[in-house]
Amino acid sequence: MTPAANSIHGMWSTRLAFILAASGSAVGLGNIWRFPYTAGEYGGGAFVLIYILCVALIGVPIMMAEIMLGRRGRQSPINTMRTLAEQEGLSGRWQLLGWMGILSGFLILSFYSVIAGWTLAYVFRAAAGAFSGIDASGAEGLFGALVGDAERLLAWHTIFMVLVVGVVARGVASGLEKAVRYLMPALFVLLLIMVLYAASTGNFNAAFAYLFAPDFAELKGHAGEAILSAMGQAFFSLSLGMGAIMIYGSYLKRDASIAQNTLIVAGMDTLVALLAGLAIFPIVFANGLAPDSGPGLIFQTLPIAFGDMPAGALFGTLFFVLLVFAAWTSAISLLEPLTAWLVENLGFSRVRAAVLGGVTVWLLGIVCLLSLNLWSDVTLFGKGFLDLFDFLTANVLLPLGGILIAVFAGWLLARASSVDELDLGEGLAYRFWRLLIRYLAPLAVTLVFLNALGVLKFFGLG
Ligand code: PHE
Repeated sequence: MTPAANSIHGMWSTRLAFILAASGSAVGLGNIWRFPYTAGEYGGGAFVLIYILCVALIGVPIMMAEIMLGRRGRQSPINTMRTLAEQEGLSGRWQLLGWMGILSGFLILSFYSVIAGWTLAYVFRAAAGAFSGIDASGAEGLFGALVGDAERLLAWHTIFMVLVVGVVARGVASGLEKAVRYLMPALFVLLLIMVLYAASTGNFNAAFAYLFAPDFAELKGHAGEAILSAMGQAFFSLSLGMGAIMIYGSYLKRDASIAQNTLIVAGMDTLVALLAGLAIFPIVFANGLAPDSGPGLIFQTLPIAFGDMPAGALFGTLFFVLLVFAAWTSAISLLEPLTAWLVENLGFSRVRAAVLGGVTVWLLGIVCLLSLNLWSDVTLFGKGFLDLFDFLTANVLLPLGGILIAVFAGWLLARASSVDELDLGEGLAYRFWRLLIRYLAPLAVTLVFLNALGVLKFFGLG
């Protein structure tokens, strides 16, 4: 059977549109909020090095595989996996991979929207001049007051979900594409300005050494956990393992090069994360803050910089506005797989599908935001709900999705199909991809899991 030429949901108008949308999905809170504080929790350089290796050796081949499967199936991840499995004479149960992705998307978006809500709140704080002359303890107080207030968090979370549903309801070309065209380049420029500022006023040398001079002694005692977190961060940041990139691939035209697009998107994503680190850690060190202060890190450091620089209210407002946009373009891709499935299988209109998905996520988000205040002593496996959803998705579900994608693309899909779809010929580049996707990616992810569970240690191997 020849693969479908188009998706019923629409198509990206140009190759640039795909690159912008896929990097819109990849670049988000994961890069600017999650990467710096996770790197900080594991002591910097060694984590960063492992992270970059995970992106290059596991993330890139899996992203290529996801785009490839999406483009061959041209439907929501659930139906794509079912169709492709049937074409290869395999069990229709492979659609479970799509269902697992829907679950991951739900869980991620529910806490993602709460954090995006913090960002929205900070837009208004910056604009109102709340940062002017603020010191470290003032910034901490400001952050604590927001996170402790369930009603405010609910209001911001609600506003953010309305924004997300609004774009998804409009569909691929008119909604998704338009949103990313100007916002991504603007974010990039602003981040560069922040790095320059941090370099000129903060402790840039200390930050640079912290991020790029790996000190493996930092990992002593929790190396397994650090490696799992670095790998999880790679999946999270590249939007892999849950069908977001797969469905974006399903709107990609046949003549676009998957390998080239993947390298551009993964490269940009990594660059933005590193720039975020270089913008934040100089301020952390110059103000004697703790790099391992957790999820509040950027909200407790950047306001100090904005409060101190000339025209800081303007730059601060702009920065948080752009971060909201980055979160928005990622959140859209989290809701898209489910929306497409509801349209395909239940015959919903796009609007109805997006609203139903959005309301469900919104409800789950309330559980997350309450875990920061009123329910702060309710824990499961020693974590509050927000932390639990974050851990479960980034460190377990997404990598698990990644293993299954790698096995399907590398072992089960006919070789001729991947040769045809990747269009690299059968030379070195293709063979290298195939080596990574068949052996390295699934094995590495499995070993990281076993290592974190302590299984390797049990057998004297870890
Ligand atoms: N990649 C996004 C970020 O870094 C989050 C995301 C994860 C989006 C999974 C889609 C799928 O912010």
